[in-house]
Amino acid sequence: MCSIIGYTGRFGAASVLIGSLKRMEYRGYDSVGMATMESSKILVRKDVGKVIEVEKSLQLDAMPGQIGIGHTRWATHGSINKINAHPHMDCNNNIVVVHNGIIENYKQLKVDLQNNGHVFKSETDSEVIAHLIECHYSKYNDVKQAVIETCKNLKGSYAFVVIFKSGLVAGARQDEPLIIGLGKDGNFISSDVLGFIEYTDQSIFLDNQDIVILNENNVSIYDFNGNPVSRDVTQVAWELGDIDKGKYAHYTHKEIHEQQYSIEKAFGIQTESINKFIDVILKSKNIFITGSGTSYHCAMLAKYLLNKLSDIRTEIVMSSEFEYMSRLLDENSVLIAISQSGETADVLHAAKIAKQNHAKILSIINIPTSSLARFSDHYLTINCGPEIGVAATKSFTGQLAIFYSIVNKLSSTRIEIKFSDFSDIINEVLEQESHIEKIAEDIKKTKDIYILGKSLHYPIGLEGSLKIKELAYIHAEGIAAGEIKHGPLALIENNTVVIVLNPSDDTYTDTLNSVYEMKSRGATIIGISNQTNEIYDYFIKLPTINKLLYPIIEIIPLQILSYYLALKNNANPDYPRNLAKSVTVR
Ligand code: AGP
Ligand code: GLU
Repeated sequence: MCSIIGYTGRFGAASVLIGSLKRMEYRGYDSVGMATMESSKILVRKDVGKVIEVEKSLQLDAMPGQIGIGHTRWATHGSINKINAHPHMDCNNNIVVVHNGIIENYKQLKVDLQNNGHVFKSETDSEVIAHLIECHYSKYNDVKQAVIETCKNLKGSYAFVVIFKSGLVAGARQDEPLIIGLGKDGNFISSDVLGFIEYTDQSIFLDNQDIVILNENNVSIYDFNGNPVSRDVTQVAWELGDIDKGKYAHYTHKEIHEQQYSIEKAFGIQTESINKFIDVILKSKNIFITGSGTSYHCAMLAKYLLNKLSDIRTEIVMSSEFEYMSRLLDENSVLIAISQSGETADVLHAAKIAKQNHAKILSIINIPTSSLARFSDHYLTINCGPEIGVAATKSFTGQLAIFYSIVNKLSSTRIEIKFSDFSDIINEVLEQESHIEKIAEDIKKTKDIYILGKSLHYPIGLEGSLKIKELAYIHAEGIAAGEIKHGPLALIENNTVVIVLNPSDDTYTDTLNSVYEMKSRGATIIGISNQTNEIYDYFIKLPTINKLLYPIIEIIPLQILSYYLALKNNANPDYPRNLAKSVTVR
């Protein structure tokens, strides 16, 4: 979940690393730490908070050396405090490590190491890596062998980077990303290309179970048996580094606004790539779609669409539940995996299970160099540019646009989509912003929000409620409108806030009936529709478009509402508490 970075080169490491950590901070932001080395002396500085908050206390000017590692943490083992922040050292301060992931067998390893005299400082699982390397290095006096033996001891998921006193930097990966950046003025090792994109676009994406040893001039890669392996150098797009907030105060706000163009871009996906998808889908007997969080909501909508417009039968399964629902997977199956990052551990796990069962893997991702893209038989990219805000916004509408294009190819009744109209349509929705901000002001103190929708609107209700929860920390629930009488009505009291997704399509009247039931029990109703109704206490107007396309635009008012609810409740929308952008642990 966190970001790790290593640098060895001609520049002062501390100033290089701090920039890298700032660019990658969206991956985890509990604490920050850095180690640099000069004249065989390793210096470690760390603190709790975001990079910008603790930058001063790290006193980077007093961290000399052209070799260094850095970390932003998303704690899994051990509370969020300075001691548990990375990097971690061995007993003799000769080895320093940063780690991303979870060491599942750390308890036993720790006991064994302690019995052999090792003294631990932190509660983290990660610290065992430093002591194991210390152990093996003292035995073999060889960097490669020390890392190999350490990896043999570890169970779980990890990417780690370690500095040895000799000046070598080494790393290894198992189910967590690790990427090499080959620069003119030094080499990098990072969990994300954003770690080094300012310096180089020449990258090597390490495979699972690769070990790497690097210095300023050389990079050597080995498998876990110590055999040299060669990996391609990929030129990554510089746009990946386009993470400027521009005129916006928050990435989330910027990314919501970028939808004016990003949706159109996703619709413009190449026919040839879609055809490859269609081919595989049509040849498959069992079609599974999976994703986590927002990406799962896209899977739900895909199912509704396929059901409405084609004869294709699909099974949708949340990635974290996939292994318990995979009995029907075989060589006649396909798994369509949806993931903005392409690094979500639950999704990768689902894809792995599908592959083990000989199913084909198709994926819809935003990062073409991601682990999921590289694991798939074919992938489609939503092409919406870097999404830094932890809450998925433009990536969701991009994923939807791609599914509409797929469904359009699979169905006999084509949805007329005029790509070029989309930026105007989205602009019309965005023009409601100040009106929505006022609604946020009125309801900011509410404890619960319910979002009703039927059919295609139900997944959007779920997605909207996820946005409200993660950004504004208000309890919110998406409910299939027809379900309210089966339980949720009991929760409605005077002034309970109910949002209704109700554009004028075949669900309009039925949804309205549920709203009447809510209203007569005292609920305050916020209607989102192209058509107003006297029952709404607040009304957010959508432009009138093709009935089947409303889901793509009706999520936007909910994103805006969540953003303002966050601001009005003093929450930072870019860094929701306890969350991280890429969930690379299961
Ligand atoms: C969305 O706002 C959340 N931050 C989260 O649910 C996210 O969608 C989920 O973790 C999946 O991420 P992915 O699309 O990168 O796989
Ligand atoms: N499991 C480690 C910890 O809790 C690493 C977490 C991370 O990936 O940030 O420190």
